[in-house]
Amino acid sequence: MTARIGRRRLVASIGAVAGASALGGCAGSGEVSPGSAATSAPTTRPFHGRRQSGVDDVPQAFAAWVALDLAPGSDRDTVRRLMSVWTDDIARLTAGRGTRTDLEPELAQRPSELTVTVGWGPGAFTAAGVAAPDWLRPLPPFAIDRLEDRWSGGDLVLQVAGECPVTLSHAVRRLVTGAAPMATQRWVQRGFRETGVDHGGQRMRNLFGQVDGTVNPDPRLADDEAIVWDDGSVWRRDATAMIVRRIAMDLDGWDRADRRSREHAVGRRLADGAPLTGGSELSPPDLEARGPDGFPVIDTFAHMRRAMPANPLERFLRRPYSYDDPPESVRTSDAGLVFVAFCADPIRQFLPVQERLAQADLMNLWTTPVGSAVFAVLPGCAAGELLGGDLLS
Ligand code: HEM
Repeated sequence: MTARIGRRRLVASIGAVAGASALGGCAGSGEVSPGSAATSAPTTRPFHGRRQSGVDDVPQAFAAWVALDLAPGSDRDTVRRLMSVWTDDIARLTAGRGTRTDLEPELAQRPSELTVTVGWGPGAFTAAGVAAPDWLRPLPPFAIDRLEDRWSGGDLVLQVAGECPVTLSHAVRRLVTGAAPMATQRWVQRGFRETGVDHGGQRMRNLFGQVDGTVNPDPRLADDEAIVWDDGSVWRRDATAMIVRRIAMDLDGWDRADRRSREHAVGRRLADGAPLTGGSELSPPDLEARGPDGFPVIDTFAHMRRAMPANPLERFLRRPYSYDDPPESVRTSDAGLVFVAFCADPIRQFLPVQERLAQADLMNLWTTPVGSAVFAVLPGCAAGELLGGDLLS
């Protein structure tokens, strides 16, 4: 079901752009060039609305996450001014217009499905004098963590995503420079992913070659909506939590593992993502099945088995991107996953799963969390309103 919906949305979203945008290119994506009429469907995604974009829509090919810290002494007025600048800037950039202070507005003219999602960390709530959601705190430390400050925490976050890295780079720069002197950049992470080339809207292959995103809720379906979007019972209607975990993947070690071990690590086939108990990618796994040796076909510590919800509450939306940065030393790679998850209540929905994986998961042999942050994604806003306006009024 998820896959079918995902594909339909994908077609609606990118079908009109001749495939170029889907493959990550900007050229020929059918956008309006200066002085010319539009030649095909617009490639914008909405900014205004009751919920922010960049959460339950089909992930674009490129994304950046920028965490910022408020300047010392910031107060409610500082936060209001920053939200005012960003609300206006984001409305313009996502519509293909430069910001008011843009020195290169031409770089904004191809919106390329740009979305900007704004979240507050604990520091923004403190500065604004507003009660934060109960769940808004750093995740507890896990034995597998090797967290670095340069990828962790932050008073605010911007998730900027789009189909064109040039548009995205420009938008990030405008939003970060526009935040001065109220806030300064704390860390930035960049990621990329396949956009439904052959696995449907929400799935991709990560850098281990695994089909990633098979079992994922679709919050646009009524049944799954409350997994991601707060209905007002947790903190605020139409808000959500964004968890950003930077997870390094040891590609060299993975290269040395044989294919059987790699498939056992997750419990799925590399070729097509099907469970090791057979069928196709979307077939349910048979967790009771035993092989001729008497051992479970899907290992007791396979990632899939350990990550499965132990009760219906333990579900969240995964929206990960790969990263592959220049290595700092003689290591041959610095690659991994910017693991991004959304849910209404991270303590009840996400934390138990992360705890289980930290206790035992075959994938831990090759993966190491190096960054961690939790943010409250504000509800959306209508034209003429301020992001976070109801908190700041
Ligand atoms: C580098 C780190 C990770 C990699 C490479 C990875 C990869 C995968 C793969 C290949 C699957 C199977 C296909 C699918 O259903 O998507 C999967 C499933 C899943 N993963 Fe991960 N994962 C990572 C980290 C995490 C983390 C940190 C969490 C949560 C704390 C998580 C939660 C899940 C869940 C909930 C499932 C679906 C389980 C089910 O079948 O119900 N993963 N992951």
